[in-house]
Amino acid sequence: MSSKLIYGAIIGFIAIWIIPVVQANEEFQSSYTCIECHPDRYEEWTRSTHALAVSDPVFEASYMRALKSDPQYREYCLSCHSPITRASKDFNLTKSISIEGVGCTFCHSVTGVEKNNYIFNQSNPMQGPYSDSKTEAHTSAYSDLLTKSEFCAGCHEFSINDVPVYETYTEWKESPYAAEGKQCQDCHMEAKRGEAAKNGTIREKVYQHFWYGGHSGLFLEKAFDLKEDSILETGDMVKVTLNITNRNVGHKIPSGFPARKVVLHFTASDENEQEIYREDRVYAKTLVDQYGNEVADFWKAASISKDNRIKPRESRIEVFEFKVPDSSGKVKTKATLEYQLEAEIITKSLESMNLEIAQTSKTTSLNRTIGVEATTSKKTPGIGWIGAIAVMMAVSMIYRKKN
Ligand code: HEC
Ligand code: HEC
Ligand code: HEC
Ligand code: HEC
Ligand code: HEC
Repeated sequence: MSSKLIYGAIIGFIAIWIIPVVQANEEFQSSYTCIECHPDRYEEWTRSTHALAVSDPVFEASYMRALKSDPQYREYCLSCHSPITRASKDFNLTKSISIEGVGCTFCHSVTGVEKNNYIFNQSNPMQGPYSDSKTEAHTSAYSDLLTKSEFCAGCHEFSINDVPVYETYTEWKESPYAAEGKQCQDCHMEAKRGEAAKNGTIREKVYQHFWYGGHSGLFLEKAFDLKEDSILETGDMVKVTLNITNRNVGHKIPSGFPARKVVLHFTASDENEQEIYREDRVYAKTLVDQYGNEVADFWKAASISKDNRIKPRESRIEVFEFKVPDSSGKVKTKATLEYQLEAEIITKSLESMNLEIAQTSKTTSLNRTIGVEATTSKKTPGIGWIGAIAVMMAVSMIYRKKN
């Protein structure tokens, strides 16, 4: 026997004994083990998309398509959708903890994050928001990181082929909310008074684990203010100005997954409810491949062709101009904002979620004169007359300026 072989045999022998020890060390506790003492957090988390991150059908279908184009995506996709696999290397998802998605012991053992890399270890104390928390069940440590947006950024911000796919963190960082110190957690894990563990002391702040977002109607309804600013007549043309404000969202709307769109539907009808005008405007980030074709699968993206999403606290003015038939003394305008997510799921059917999230409508009496601010109120006698003079003055002033 050559010395090389003996050497190999010894290493092999050691490896047999050491590897299982290392593996045992890498066993993270399943989220279910926390239910006994943290029932509220557990219930909330099971209903969150974090718990479904690797099992939701939209992810599964997309993951299958990614693997088909390159099997190397396995490790990549799972690094965020089943982050425990970063340590366990269980890329075939054979362990039950691997299909928990983003679970308790992953988030609560993180001690550092740099770009898309998390530092975490199952032997770390439970990282949390308290500095005075004690229990026999586990060691605990205060983590400043867990209370900050940077903690979420490691998954909610990334690029592929140098194309920024998710920019939620940057969008937040550039917004007034970051300057005001309002973190992702403050909106997505709203704190309330209660106990952090069963029979524990009452604390001023415990943090809900629902992470509501684009899958929650109630949350989406808080997002926008939509109102009609003005309606102006010029001859037989009517000009409507809408104002859309991102009122409550700490990043652009929509954010994250690029297949999301917000669509503004605008319609106008005459006094007989006959539709006379219709237009849709779309707010989205559009990814394109190297040939310039729009791609839904973000890993095929070569660049961003358009991004007109609405920034935090931005007010977007949208103007619609259309003709109203002379016969109509009134115009009825209606605008709705719809949140859309179109996704191909495993059965190859195209599932789409269309949710109306804001609406405004108005009926306006037309003066049928030139350049008047049309009014929704009833006409008072004489106003047409004053209006006509005002218009004549306005028109002559415009003429004077032009010449
Ligand atoms: C036998 C009961 C018990 C079990 C099981 C248990 N915990 Fe705890 N945990 C507690 C108690 C008690 C506290 C302290 C509560 C307080 O300070 O108000 C606590 C505190 C925490 C904190 C806050 C730490 C800090 O310093 O801010 C976190 C995070 C936490 N637990 C996570 C978990 C996770 C994740 C699991 C499951 C893997 C788990 N716990 C299992 C009882 C338990
Ligand atoms: C380990 C990666 C990871 C970390 C850390 C993480 N997330 Fe997520 N998050 C995900 C994934 C993956 C999904 C999508 C799950 C799915 O639907 O398939 C998600 C979904 C969400 C959603 C739901 C979006 C929707 O459309 O409903 C919100 C909100 C959210 N995360 C906020 C946060 C916040 C806030 C933090 C920090 C406290 C955070 N996340 C930390 C990976 C992560
Ligand atoms: C996506 C990451 C993430 C996951 C998954 C997660 N947590 Fe948390 N958890 C946090 C963050 C972040 C905080 C602190 C929020 C803050 O301070 O703003 C927190 C706070 C806590 C606390 C402190 C006390 C309280 O009730 O708010 C406990 C206990 C806790 N989590 C338990 C759990 C348990 C149990 C699970 C699984 C059922 C779980 N967490 C899953 C991120 C996570
Ligand atoms: C000021 C409150 C606020 C802050 C701060 C905030 N969000 Fe949101 N977020 C919302 C609201 C409201 C929605 C629902 C509207 C929507 O879907 O755009 C939302 C939606 C989302 C979604 C779903 C994406 C979508 O457009 O449907 C994700 C993911 C998300 N937030 C993650 C984060 C992360 C990560 C941070 C921190 C970097 C963060 N949020 C900061 C309020 C906030
Ligand atoms: C750096 C972390 C990260 C990586 C890598 C990643 N994702 Fe995600 N993924 C997320 C986060 C965070 C969300 C939730 C964001 C949101 O809802 O806006 C998400 C959401 C999704 C969704 C939408 C789920 C739903 O129900 O709306 C699909 C589909 C998806 N990812 C597929 C993939 C595939 C396939 C890969 C690999 C090619 C991948 N992801 C790689 C972080 C990641």
